[in-house]
Amino acid sequence: MTGNNNVVPLITEQQIRERITVLAKEIAAGAGKDIMVVSLLKGSFMFTADLIRSLHGAGVKTQVDFMTLSSYGKGTTSSGTITVNRDLSEDVSGKMVLIVDDILESGRTIDFARKLVMGCGAKDVKVAVLLEKPGKLAVEVTADFIGFTIEDKFVVGYGLDYANHYRELPFVGVVVSSDAA
Ligand code: IMP
Ligand code: MG
Repeated sequence: MTGNNNVVPLITEQQIRERITVLAKEIAAGAGKDIMVVSLLKGSFMFTADLIRSLHGAGVKTQVDFMTLSSYGKGTTSSGTITVNRDLSEDVSGKMVLIVDDILESGRTIDFARKLVMGCGAKDVKVAVLLEKPGKLAVEVTADFIGFTIEDKFVVGYGLDYANHYRELPFVGVVVSSDAA
């Protein structure tokens, strides 16, 4: 029921913490000191919470907004269609926007979000992702700031889910048993 016995850690809590501290410095240097963060729900809520605190430590002021996008698909693969379930509520026009997501896989989610934010008149858009699975891009898109590059395994924890479970885990891991939830 509660267990994380079924999830084998891939990236530890400490590794995540250390990487985010460095990432925040990279963002401070590459995106400036005044940023509108657009966090893509649900998967990036934990990453966003830690990242903006590290950005504060790196001397960056942030405003935060959230957007919920979903890609219709079955199981653990996403399909091509992105739907906006919750739109931006802040005005991003003229602002330096940092889109924050949990993982870059096909790139469709980021590509969609980037175009949407640019269409709202943002001055510039950069992208930060906690994780990247290389070689899986279906559209041409890159993240400006990447936490970790991982192999092609379905991962959970630290905000990422399997059927909305495991988001609470403080680490990123691989599910090894399906009777876990
Ligand atoms: P993309 O649009 O294919 O780049 O997919 C990105 C979205 O798919 C992420 O925001 C996640 O919600 C989900 N996703 C992709 N890979 C994983 C995974 O390994 N674990 C959990 N969610 C994933
Ligand atoms: Mg997601």
